Amino acid sequence: MKIRYLGHSAFQIKTNGYEILIDPFLDDNPVSPIKSKDVHPDFVILTHAHGDHLGDSIKIGNKSNPLFICVNELAEWLKSKGLKAHNMHIGGSRNFEFGKVKFTIAHHGSITPDGNYAGEPAGVILNIENKTIYHTGDTGLFYDMKLIGEINSIDYMFVPIGDNFTMGIDDAVKAVEFVKPKIAIPIHYNTFEIIKADPELFKQKIEANGFNCRIMKFGEEIEV
Ligand code: NI
Ligand code: MN
Repeated sequence: MKIRYLGHSAFQIKTNGYEILIDPFLDDNPVSPIKSKDVHPDFVILTHAHGDHLGDSIKIGNKSNPLFICVNELAEWLKSKGLKAHNMHIGGSRNFEFGKVKFTIAHHGSITPDGNYAGEPAGVILNIENKTIYHTGDTGLFYDMKLIGEINSIDYMFVPIGDNFTMGIDDAVKAVEFVKPKIAIPIHYNTFEIIKADPELFKQKIEANGFNCRIMKFGEEIEV
């Protein structure tokens, strides 16, 4: 499987001939090296409906007709725009052609750009090619992350460090202690001035606690 970090909260995953996008905020994302015209996903997973996560979903949906996977209320909104969506909700999991998707809680908000209720924001746990990925979505620190780590044995944790809208570095360090991933990858920082954070400082702090950190450059792809 190939995992490419597109900056902010956005990822592109390639596995067994499938392309999967998470939170495809590309065209207005100043740090993403690729734009909506460059992607052709089969599936798009959304953590919530804020503009920096929903991103170019409508444009990409109209172009490539992927299956959107997200919480019920947001899925209904996407369907009302003529797109294909699979409704799920927090705590639920389901096997898709590329692997398994499970939604978790996230402490945050969610509303569509046109002002519609979009359900609860979420985190997502993916099982693909025997690897487990936990993308926390936008969230503050919460104690149930401990439970999420215990139950799921996380290989890769995508964890926000940018502060202001989500956890900052110190809370993110605690989140890593709770989840105990094999590798933590910082996200949701340095896209904009307001979420400026130093990933090297995060790395130092979690390594001091005995955890591994992989800082992915914006646009970098790793094979796992
Ligand atoms: Ni958000
Ligand atoms: Mn966000």
